Amino acid sequence: MGEHILVAVAWPYANGPRHIGHVAGFGVPSDIFARYHRLKGNYVLMVSGTDEHGTPITLAADKEGVTPQAIADRYSQIIGDDLYHLGLSYDTFTRTTTLNHYRVTQDIFKTLYEKGYILRQETLGAFSASTGRTLPDRYIEGTCPICGYHEARGDQCDNCGHQLDPIDLINPRSKIDGQPPVFKETEQFFLDLPVFADRLQKWITRQTHWRPNVRSFSLNFIKELKPRPITRDLDWGVPIPLPEYAGRDDKKIYVWFDAVIGYLSASIEWAKNRGTPDAWRDWWQNRRARHYYFMGKDNIVFHSVIWPSQLMGYFSDGFYAGSAAGAFAEVPLQLPHNIVSSEFLTMEGKKFSSSRGVVIYVNDVLSRYDPDALRYFLAIAGPENQDTDFTWSEFVRRNNDELVATWGNLVNRTLTNVYKNFGSVPAPETLTEGDHALIATVEGGFATCGEAIEQARFKSAISEAMRLASLVNTYLSEQEPWKVIKQDRARAATIWYVALHCVDQLKLLFTPFLPFSSQRLHEYLGYDGFIAGPLEFREYTEEHGTSHRVLTGDYESWIGRWEPSSLPVGQPLRQPAPLFKKLDEQVVEDELARLMGT
Ligand code: MF3
Ligand code: ZN
Repeated sequence: MGEHILVAVAWPYANGPRHIGHVAGFGVPSDIFARYHRLKGNYVLMVSGTDEHGTPITLAADKEGVTPQAIADRYSQIIGDDLYHLGLSYDTFTRTTTLNHYRVTQDIFKTLYEKGYILRQETLGAFSASTGRTLPDRYIEGTCPICGYHEARGDQCDNCGHQLDPIDLINPRSKIDGQPPVFKETEQFFLDLPVFADRLQKWITRQTHWRPNVRSFSLNFIKELKPRPITRDLDWGVPIPLPEYAGRDDKKIYVWFDAVIGYLSASIEWAKNRGTPDAWRDWWQNRRARHYYFMGKDNIVFHSVIWPSQLMGYFSDGFYAGSAAGAFAEVPLQLPHNIVSSEFLTMEGKKFSSSRGVVIYVNDVLSRYDPDALRYFLAIAGPENQDTDFTWSEFVRRNNDELVATWGNLVNRTLTNVYKNFGSVPAPETLTEGDHALIATVEGGFATCGEAIEQARFKSAISEAMRLASLVNTYLSEQEPWKVIKQDRARAATIWYVALHCVDQLKLLFTPFLPFSSQRLHEYLGYDGFIAGPLEFREYTEEHGTSHRVLTGDYESWIGRWEPSSLPVGQPLRQPAPLFKKLDEQVVEDELARLMGT
C-alpha cells in the first residue's frame, strides 16, 4: 500500500516571468521529490498555481496602466509555460482567481470569524500621499527604531531581523515616489495568532526532522506573536464574506491569507476535475498522509506558523461551526509534515532581484539550453543549505565536466558499442565476482539516493548517483570490452551486459532529477511506455462560465519503479544519440554580455 504524500509548492506571483532563483527555490526540489515518490508507488498529489492577488499584482498593473486581471492572465500563462517546459509535474497547477479558490477561502475566513479567531480592529493604515491608495508594508522604507538601519522596511528590518509595523519607522517614505505616507484610521480584520501560540510551540518543538534553521526561526517567531492583519484597503483580492462588505470594493482579504489556502483549494479542484470530488480528503483528512511544503526561505513563517494556525482554527477542539460554514471541517485538516525551504540564489555575485536588473529568466535559459541541463545544475549546485551563486562558467563546467563527461559519456559509449556490435541486449555468460560487486553497488543506489531524497537532501542524492555512474565508467576503462571483443566475444558480451544493466538502473536513479533524458534513454534501451511521460494543459470551465488552464498530466500511467529493473536479454535497442550537449566555452562570454546588456 502506498502512502499519501502532498507535495505543496509555493505559489509564484503572477507579476512577471520567473527567474531561475525562483525555480531553484520552490520548483526543481519539489519536482524531484514528487517524481521520486511516484516511482516509489506512493500516492502523490502535487499542487500549486499562480498567486494573483495583492499589491505585487496591482503595482505591476499600475506600472503598465492595465487591469490587475490582465497582468494575472498574462503572467499566469507565461509562468505555466515555463514550469511545463522545465518538466515540473504538478497534478494541478491552477490559479488563485478561480471561483473554487474564492469559495474555499471565504469558507475558511467565515469559519474562523464565527469561531472568534478573527478580530476586528481599528488601525492606522499607510496610504500613498499622491494616489490615496494603500501602501503595502514592504513598500515603505525608513529608519529602524531598534538598530537605526536606514533602509528598514515597513514589515521587517533586514539588518536586525525584527518585525516592524510601518508606523514604527522613523522618517517613513514610500519606495514608489519617496513621499512620506499618510496614516489614516481604518478597520481591518486580524487573525488572532496568540490564541494558537501554545499549540504552535508544542507542535513545532516536536518537528525535529525540520531543517534546523526552519525550526529555530519558527520557534523564535512565535515568541512575539501578535494578532496579524488579514485584510487590506485594496480593490483587488478575495471579497470579505460578511454581509456588510457585500458589493464593497474598498477592502479585500490579504493575499497571503488566501494564497496558502490555495494548497487546499487546488486539491479540491484536482479532485473535482478528475471526477472524484471527495478524493482530496485522502490527503487532507487522513492522519497518515504526509504534507511537504517547498519554498524559498522568505516564505517560511507563512507555512510554519500562519497557515498551521488557519488550519488549527478551522477545526479546533472538535468544535464545528455548522453547516453554513466549515464545509470541509468535519474532520481535522492535516498540518505540514515538513517545511523544505531553500536559501537564495544569487547570480554572478549579486542578489537575484528583478528590480536590480540582474536576472536570468527561466524561459530565456530554456530557449538556449535543455531543461535537464538546468535541472542538473539546480539540483547539484542549488541553494539547498546556503545562499549560492549562479555563474555561467559554473553552469558550463558542471554541464561539460560532470553531466556530459560522466553520465552522458557512460550512456553514450555503452549504447553505441552495444548497438553496433550486438543490436540488442547481449546474453551474458557467467558473471565474475567483480561484475556482481559492481551491480550490487549500483543497485544499492536505490536505498542511498532514495533515503537522501526522502530527507530532502537533493544534492547528496544526485552526487551519489553521479558517483555510481563514474564507477561504471571506471569498470569499462579497466575491462576494455572494445579490446576484449577481438579475442573473446562472449566475455565482451558479458562486460557490456553488466554496463547496460547498470545504465538501466542509473536511468531510474536519475529520473527524478533528469526526467527528459531518462525517458529518451529508456527508449534507446528498447523499452516502450513512459517512465516519466509528458505533462499537459487542460482547460476547465467553472459555473460562472469563465475557464482557466491547468497544468497536469496522466502520471498514473507512468511505468517507472524505484527498484532494480531487469533488462531483458535479447531486447532490441533503438538507434542511440547523445543524451546531453557539450557547451562551447564561448557560452560564458555570450551570456555575460547578454546579461550586462539588459
Ligand atoms: N507568491 C509568494 C511569493 O512569491 C509565495 C506564496 S506561497 C503560498 O513569495 F503558499 F502562499 F501561496
Ligand atoms: Zn533594525
